[in-house]
Amino acid sequence: MSRLDEVTRGRILFGGDYNPEQWPEETWHEDVRLMRDAGVNSVTLGVFSWAKLEPRPGAREFGWLDRLMDLMHASGIGVVLATPTSSPPPWMGRLHPETLPRDEDGRTEWWGGRQHFSHSSAVYRRYAAAITEDLAARYGGHPALTMWHINNEYCTFDWGDEAAGTFRRWLQDKYGTLDALNAAWGTAFWSQGYGDWDEILPPRHAHYMKNPTQVLDFRRYTSDMLLECYVAERDIVRRHTPHLPVTTNFMPMWVGQDAWKWVTEEDVVSVDLYPDPRDPFGAQNGALVQDMTRSQAGGGPWMLMEQAAGPVNWRGVNHPKPRGLNRLWSLQAVARGADAVCYFQWRQSRQGAEKFHSGMVSHAGEAGRTFQEIKGLGAELAAIGPEVTGSPLAADVVVLHEWNAWWAGAQESRPSREVDYPQVVRAWHRALWEAHVTTDFAHPEHDLSAYRLVVVPQLYLLTDAAIDNLLSYVRGGGTLVCGFLTGIADEDDRVRPGGMDARLRELFGIRTLHEWWPLEAGESAECDGFVGTLWSEELEVEGADQVIPYKGGELDGLPAVLRKGRAWYVSTLPEPPALRDLMADVAAGAGVRPVLDGLPAQVEAVRRGDLLFLLNHGRETVTVEVPGTHRDLLTGEQVAAVVELERYGAAVLAR
Ligand code: GLA
Repeated sequence: MSRLDEVTRGRILFGGDYNPEQWPEETWHEDVRLMRDAGVNSVTLGVFSWAKLEPRPGAREFGWLDRLMDLMHASGIGVVLATPTSSPPPWMGRLHPETLPRDEDGRTEWWGGRQHFSHSSAVYRRYAAAITEDLAARYGGHPALTMWHINNEYCTFDWGDEAAGTFRRWLQDKYGTLDALNAAWGTAFWSQGYGDWDEILPPRHAHYMKNPTQVLDFRRYTSDMLLECYVAERDIVRRHTPHLPVTTNFMPMWVGQDAWKWVTEEDVVSVDLYPDPRDPFGAQNGALVQDMTRSQAGGGPWMLMEQAAGPVNWRGVNHPKPRGLNRLWSLQAVARGADAVCYFQWRQSRQGAEKFHSGMVSHAGEAGRTFQEIKGLGAELAAIGPEVTGSPLAADVVVLHEWNAWWAGAQESRPSREVDYPQVVRAWHRALWEAHVTTDFAHPEHDLSAYRLVVVPQLYLLTDAAIDNLLSYVRGGGTLVCGFLTGIADEDDRVRPGGMDARLRELFGIRTLHEWWPLEAGESAECDGFVGTLWSEELEVEGADQVIPYKGGELDGLPAVLRKGRAWYVSTLPEPPALRDLMADVAAGAGVRPVLDGLPAQVEAVRRGDLLFLLNHGRETVTVEVPGTHRDLLTGEQVAAVVELERYGAAVLAR
């Protein structure tokens, strides 16, 4: 599925967003000198250049971009060319206010920031298509061009009037009749029955809780509208350059885009990833996004489109990366399948909203530590590229994640607002990461038969097809571990009879789900041998082994964890060490081995192809026992039996 190899051809792409329109042309030449010095081989141009390219409606100013494209080509640097459509010029909002989105309270999102476009605006789409057409016609044959980057982090919502029209059309396509819509939305409740399509609105500000299925459909519709915008521009550039791959950059596990659907329209899957350097689980958070992105790329190589060389500017407190951390997290991405390591942005801005966001060249310039570390990394990526690019990862374990389940589960009215879907997914991934088990991600309707272990952190909404898929996976000999709040609702968010799907209850040996007992923040549920958090359940078992009971309290003696054959059900969220141990045991029982035995806790090990990556996320020097003799591609040295990794150190071992 991934066409990234057509661009990399044995090199890891290294570079980033380059926004030279902020700088005088003399600086471009200085930039190129530094880029070459650092081994930069790819830049992304034009992401926010619309006003510069089209300063007046219909005008075209391509001269500066011509010179840049030529300069990049002459310097041996490939260009990922962006369509500039994520930030329309001010004239568009002024002349065509209907291109500006409205929030759910009816407020306009004005120009003066960015991403102020309505996905539904016919005028916006017309201007976006026109500039895309002209860019593709002008640069499609340019020798510097390697790939297209459509828009940037598609993430806009719109509750405005034009969006109301496209929402109705989307609903008509989906339901055909108002009767079908009324039935799916359950509008018999609270007098919401619709008698005319024109009565239907995006879920705008309301007095009290909104209809949850309307909100769910609005999320689906928004993802589809943005995808339509992407596909329209992609089709234009494809017509000019069928030989070049097309991507758009995702935000990591972002709530607004059903990425499983989007990736079927992409040639290369790319993501922007900014873990907090202060987050003690920043590395695990990174690993999760990397595993998910690789899985979205069908297991093939993916592109780290953006990361930060140092601090970002959008957290409350923005921490720099300590020496070595940028290198370590970049190598982690490569270990987990990235064949491109790129940044936002090349040169740190001196003006504008992101002037305190790091760049590969920081305000300290060439002499600054940031650039010096970038230069070191560039050399290392160049050295390992030929042996790494294109090689796959093998995982025996897969975590299931799905956007509709997330959206439906996050509704206003729910059993507990303490349950945060991304946090739950993170907790389960962390358990596997800490058990040194490599994991993929999949959609619950994907073929799971290649995996020894399937983990469902939480899929509140499941289609019948997904349920059948899980049942046949277990029937086929697979091991399934399932967390709470799974299989509760159907596609329309209608609660399934019995409160949880009957087939799943049978699979896990649950006769009756009597009540949920959600926990307050900081409250815990004592279980035999560990402490549960967030949630607990009053279950009556039939045909299952009760593996671990609740201890004390209202649920004393009732099952917290149960198992029937190879199907496990976990009705609480065990504290991290307990969940790690549970997953390590279940994985071992399913025949899944950790990447290496006896790894120190802070060391991550990943096998990619024939290579073994060792990454020390700790601040202490550690030694790792690795049977046999290897060559470390980073140092060129032979290592036998024991590898020493200094703080934030890494090794890439080849046999
Ligand atoms: C996103 C955007 C970039 C930049 C960075 C800052 O990833 O795509 O343009 O704003 O965030 O972290």
